[in-house]
Amino acid sequence: MAIEITVNDRQFTTEAAPDTPLLYVLTNELELKGPRFGCGLAQCGSCSVLIDGVEVRSCVTPVAAVESRSVTTLEGLPALYARQKGLSDTPALHPVQQAFIDEQAIQCGYCYNGMTIKAAELLAANPRPSDAEARTALNGHLCRCGTYPRILQAIQRASAEVAR
Ligand code: FES
Ligand code: FES
Repeated sequence: MAIEITVNDRQFTTEAAPDTPLLYVLTNELELKGPRFGCGLAQCGSCSVLIDGVEVRSCVTPVAAVESRSVTTLEGLPALYARQKGLSDTPALHPVQQAFIDEQAIQCGYCYNGMTIKAAELLAANPRPSDAEARTALNGHLCRCGTYPRILQAIQRASAEVAR
């Protein structure tokens, strides 16, 4: 049975079994590099995507569950941001992505996808989060390199741009 999904504003049809994890379709069929397989158990956040703007762990989300819904991956964050802010041009990077670069917030990069997706979700709802609010939002996103202080700095840097 074909399943129609919308990913980063484009429609795709997959023949995958309905209970196939969305992550597998995104990486194996659509060849997206943003979401990553980490634990496969909804524990680390490396596979996170936004579904209708809400962060979801794609490793435990059946592809059938996202039919008729809008999936945004790391690759789609700039366009989503442009829409949210009413910008006429899509920036090359979402402010969170740029801030992670500016703050050198990443070492191995494995957590980058989930941290960025979660931070983008947070700033869309709360453009000026306190450090405590950012920490709470990131709870459940694991960084094995321990770059949490710089990630928090990056969120505050991005906040200054998003809240303008
Ligand atoms: S791979 Fe999905 S939460 Fe870890
Ligand atoms: S930078 Fe390596 S897991 Fe976070």
